[in-house]
Amino acid sequence: MTGALTGTALCVFDAYGTLFDFNSAVARHRAAIGPKADALADLWRLKQIQYTWLRNSMGAYAPFWQVTGEALDHCLAVHGIADPAVRDKLMNAYLVLAPFPEVPAMLDRLKRNGVRLAILSNGNPGMLEPMVAASGLADRFEAVLSVDSVGVYKVAPEVYRLVETRCGVAPDKVCFLSSNCWDAHGAAHFGFRTVWINRAGAPDDNLPGKPVAELRDLSQLPSLLGVS
Ligand code: LAC
Repeated sequence: MTGALTGTALCVFDAYGTLFDFNSAVARHRAAIGPKADALADLWRLKQIQYTWLRNSMGAYAPFWQVTGEALDHCLAVHGIADPAVRDKLMNAYLVLAPFPEVPAMLDRLKRNGVRLAILSNGNPGMLEPMVAASGLADRFEAVLSVDSVGVYKVAPEVYRLVETRCGVAPDKVCFLSSNCWDAHGAAHFGFRTVWINRAGAPDDNLPGKPVAELRDLSQLPSLLGVS
């Protein structure tokens, strides 16, 4: 597998769950949420992503910040949590999500070796920019691309097309990384060389598009790219 993706010009990363740990929002406020914290975290992510797919089908785009809040409101209601301070804490934590531990060194290694780096996310700029800035990693990326500019969510091809439009790199020279299996399939189906970052050790989804590789986290990405 080493060097399987040699010749990649640009690495494009999904943001939430791939570079940044959305569970860190709930983890930070576990005490305020109480024993339902983990169940809340799982349902929040599930609903957040379901709402994007449903809005795509309805032709009813709204920014990811709004969708994230609407998903959270549903989940708080499911778990009987009515304290508005909890809602505020969780939403604010989403603006400063922590990167996964291996991310800074991995990005530095790729950049040192001349690999271009970008983010492509469902997040709208108003939520992506503070998070990337807070992580101290902003200068690693030549672009932070948001679906907001096309008004539709992943896995619509218009989203993945943004990479060539903005960065000028053809899909077959792009390595796309996502921990979201459905996103990895969508990106592979579009034509990117795609690696599924299977952080949870989950079984594959049965969807069109086949990722070229699967990694447990991003630490092995440099060797897959043939970068020292
Ligand atoms: C994103 C979500 C899908 O960053 O994780 O686009």
